[in-house]
Amino acid sequence: MTGAETPTGPALPRTIDDVPGWFFRADQEAFSWFLDRQTEAGVTGNLLELGTYLGRSAILLGRHLRSGETFTVCDLFDSEAPDDENSAEMSMSYRDSLTRRAFEANYLAFHEELPTVVQAPTSVLADGRIPTASCRFVHVDASHLYEHVAGDIQVAREALSKDGLVALDDYRSEHTPGVAAAVWEAVFDHGLRPVLLTPSKFYGTWGDADSLIRDFLARDWRAEGFRMDSEIIGGHTCYRLAWDDPVPSPQRRPAPQRSASRRLALAVLPPVVTKAVRRQLQASRDRRAAH
Ligand SMILES: C[S@@+](CC[C@H](N)C(=O)[O-])C[C@H]1O[C@@H](n2cnc3c(N)ncnc32)[C@H](O)[C@@H]1O
Repeated sequence: MTGAETPTGPALPRTIDDVPGWFFRADQEAFSWFLDRQTEAGVTGNLLELGTYLGRSAILLGRHLRSGETFTVCDLFDSEAPDDENSAEMSMSYRDSLTRRAFEANYLAFHEELPTVVQAPTSVLADGRIPTASCRFVHVDASHLYEHVAGDIQVAREALSKDGLVALDDYRSEHTPGVAAAVWEAVFDHGLRPVLLTPSKFYGTWGDADSLIRDFLARDWRAEGFRMDSEIIGGHTCYRLAWDDPVPSPQRRPAPQRSASRRLALAVLPPVVTKAVRRQLQASRDRRAAH
């Protein structure tokens, strides 16, 4: 859903949920929690996003920008991808709707100034334009192909300050095995420590994961309706946070309404009897329909 139509162009968003994208409740909360914790602890540093699309996650990141910090986003938007595979990925997923102008209009609906926009493949960021150890938070959500993601993780590592945090998108989706490979490679071969897993994103640090996790667990996420559990992976305790959207979606249709007598029969009778009850109910429905 989007906001009202403007006299000169498409509708402007009123909330970030009006902006198309793949940035959902658990991650909105996790981003805000990590960024607020940094601010409360007096940690300063720049923000960086690789893969911005129409700005859904960038708009939230921009809200956490503090005076003296910079926010840089890097996306191809409507320019050419650097290789055929990336080009195919772009045509399949984003081409119809994505322009830099659309991103900028969305962003400016929430903020007075644009971030620094690098309209180019994320690989250009390896040229040193992001100063080493200058960022406190990096969101990696650009190409989901292995070589690109592995490179983006290296960019994030260089960019992050000591206890800075990286969020890596789509580390476990069916259509993104390359992201999974790059993320777990970073954990097992390059010292990335898991801090949190959500259904969409992996959060990690090359710094002190333990104190981040300890503070994160001090909030009673379950009391607020989130699901939270943990699992040990290769010696790392990985905490998982999820939010089940209560709004019925096409995938989770509401159960069909049953009459009280039918609900009671199905609840209390053994299966062989409920089958007979079902047959009788169907027969009486058929009889009613025939009249
Ligand atoms: C999944 S979308 C980003 C979603 C966004 N972070 C959000 O929350 O709505 C991926 C974005 O990465 C961009 N992208 C894909 N390959 C890229 C590359 N090699 N370099 C820079 N951007 C790229 C696409 O243009 C697209 O906007």
